Amino acid sequence: MKLIRPLLFHFLLYCATETLGVKIQSVPGVNSEGVIQTELEKTVSLVCQSDGDHESQADEELVWKRNGAAISLTEENKKGHSSVCVTPIIYEDNGATFTCHLSKNATVTASVTLNVTLEEEAVLVLQCDIWANPPVFSVSWKLNGSTVDLLAGGFSVTNDGLTSRLTAKKMKKSLHEGTYQCTAESPIYGGHSKQFIVAVTEKTLKVPLMPMIAGLVVVCLTALLAIASRWDKITKCCK
Ligand SMILES: *[C@@H]1O[C@H](CO)[C@@H](O)[C@H](O)[C@H]1NC(C)=O
Ligand SMILES: *[C@@H]1O[C@H](CO)[C@@H](O)[C@H](O)[C@H]1NC(C)=O
Ligand SMILES: *[C@@H]1O[C@H](CO)[C@@H](O)[C@H](O)[C@H]1NC(C)=O
Repeated sequence: MKLIRPLLFHFLLYCATETLGVKIQSVPGVNSEGVIQTELEKTVSLVCQSDGDHESQADEELVWKRNGAAISLTEENKKGHSSVCVTPIIYEDNGATFTCHLSKNATVTASVTLNVTLEEEAVLVLQCDIWANPPVFSVSWKLNGSTVDLLAGGFSVTNDGLTSRLTAKKMKKSLHEGTYQCTAESPIYGGHSKQFIVAVTEKTLKVPLMPMIAGLVVVCLTALLAIASRWDKITKCCK
């Protein structure tokens, strides 16, 4: 959980999903379908507020749930106003639904869902826990229903007996977007699968940092030199 400076609030785009009694505000904002668009490694902050017309509701105790499981909150983070922070965003957060409701009345509720997209050129890592006793005898990975083409997609698969990991070093929308599925086959329990829906967004242009730093250094150096030469004059005239 993190505190967000109040001043920052005014500059950030603020959206809210509203139902009777509680509302969720988030950074980044929620779209009209209740979905928050985010990327790996980013931070999503959610604030739930009880806002009834009745005075009594402003101080109501709140409950946060992630995919139906309660999130543990400190006492002071429950009354009338409660914030949770998801950071850093990991792939498992894709599709996670965060629900906030009044502690005494679960029908007074609001929820948002995270949509985690991956930027082109980012590293894609999908993993499936495959721990079993007796051990599973095979793990397979599929993309859009057919076996992952390791060579064409630049994928590598590792398996340490506990997790099977599918990695692609540099993602490309045309090669890596789609629905992935890992399936572990156990001699006793049969096949178990897990699905991942991977959406790839085009790389956004980032402000180049190096030229800016170089620019600043040059300005600083010239300023220092100017002082130095003046200092020279000052010291000379003092003699
Ligand atoms: C819970 O809230 C709903 C909607 O405001 C209301 O209709 C219902 O009576 C409330 N239930 C309780 C037990 O207070
Ligand atoms: C998630 O984002 C991707 C990329 O913008 C979009 O194609 C997809 O429809 C979104 N999914 C949901 C559930 O909003
Ligand atoms: C997988 O299917 C989706 C949806 O039909 C498509 O957009 C995507 O390009 C496919 N991925 C690959 C690698 O063919």
